[in-house]
Amino acid sequence: MRTEICKRLGIEFPIFAFSHCRDVVAEASKAGAFGVLGAVGFTPEQFARELDLLDKAVGDRPYGVDVVVPTHDVTGAEKDPETLRQELFNGIPQAHQAYAKKILSESGVPELPQGTKHEGEYLLRSTAATARRHVEIALQHPNVRVVANALGAPPPEMVQAIKASGRLVAGLCGKPEHARRHAAAGVDIIVAQGTEGGGHTGEIGSVVLWPEVVEAVKPIPVLAAGGVGSGAQIAAAMVLGAQGVWCGSLWLTTIESELNETAKELLISAKSSDTVRSRSQTGKPSRMLRNRWTEAWDKPDAPRPLPLPLQDMISAECSARARAYPAKAREVTINPVGQIVGRLNQVSRTRDVVAALVEEYLEAADRLNKILEADLYDS
Ligand SMILES: Cc1cc2nc3c(=O)[nH]c(=O)nc-3n(C[C@H](O)[C@H](O)[C@H](O)COP(=O)(O)O)c2cc1C
Repeated sequence: MRTEICKRLGIEFPIFAFSHCRDVVAEASKAGAFGVLGAVGFTPEQFARELDLLDKAVGDRPYGVDVVVPTHDVTGAEKDPETLRQELFNGIPQAHQAYAKKILSESGVPELPQGTKHEGEYLLRSTAATARRHVEIALQHPNVRVVANALGAPPPEMVQAIKASGRLVAGLCGKPEHARRHAAAGVDIIVAQGTEGGGHTGEIGSVVLWPEVVEAVKPIPVLAAGGVGSGAQIAAAMVLGAQGVWCGSLWLTTIESELNETAKELLISAKSSDTVRSRSQTGKPSRMLRNRWTEAWDKPDAPRPLPLPLQDMISAECSARARAYPAKAREVTINPVGQIVGRLNQVSRTRDVVAALVEEYLEAADRLNKILEADLYDS
């Protein structure tokens, strides 16, 4: 399993574990995989604290971070984040706010207690202004070996700063065209994410996308993402030319995942056919469990979801109310997850998930070898 990328990063298995939860990232890195912490949910101050704790937890193991710099940032990176946040929040159309509140109240989800703020009101996610701060902080932490950008190629000055510090730059993509743009921007690792994946995702299925991207950017290493939930799928990704895999959904139902019990239960009982690509969370298509929230935004008379980051500021209230009242919000909780959710059948420890992936990969490789051996014997 030790591909070139393992040697470059000093890891045992080319399994990249993306999570917004520090404990998952730490456990994955400690188990020989490569944990990647998603920065988008943290203020710069929170993020700095998370990385300090992560450094302590992983010892000398490497890990990565993932920031969100949208290709078309409507906000302007140069503005003071607080001014920007106020301007954006005040600019959200009343009709959208009211519609979101109506979905929640009709589903019986109580309002937040008076004076409680939700992330949409204090946190500027998914903007270049915030991501720039996240990257500055990441570069102060020596165990961070990879900085990934979720949406499009990172801006040139960001690529330069990351590379100059001796780290690798990764970029996610959903089309070979995107991958070529990443390559031209100097990205070191390309993550090809098929439509099956959780979170922001394109339209091309993994089995078609992975080899297309490998071909488009070779010799740049490609990690296969979107629908990877077993070692056999890792073997398939390697056969299709990937140097490793990048998984997100798989870690949501681990013991270390900070999702509440209700959210974990919903994921465990969901089938692969229960997800939908919806603009209702961030304004860009992203995959999540289908429910009353996603269906409400799809209705013909619903307001059109706003562009990033405005829709994100609206849906943050839904997420905050769902966290405060998980049982009451079962029908409307935003649950980003990929189609591999059908395989998430129990709560497991992160390190056991990594070990199972490796074991299953070896079994799959064995099956292939047996076919080859039988073929040799026959001829
Ligand atoms: C809950 C959740 C949140 C995600 N958030 C981000 C994110 O902030 N940045 C990012 O680059 N990718 C994000 N993703 C996508 C993952 O990085 C990864 O590409 C995807 O999960 C792979 O497909 P899989 O879900 O089938 O494993 C998210 C995925 C999930 C499931």
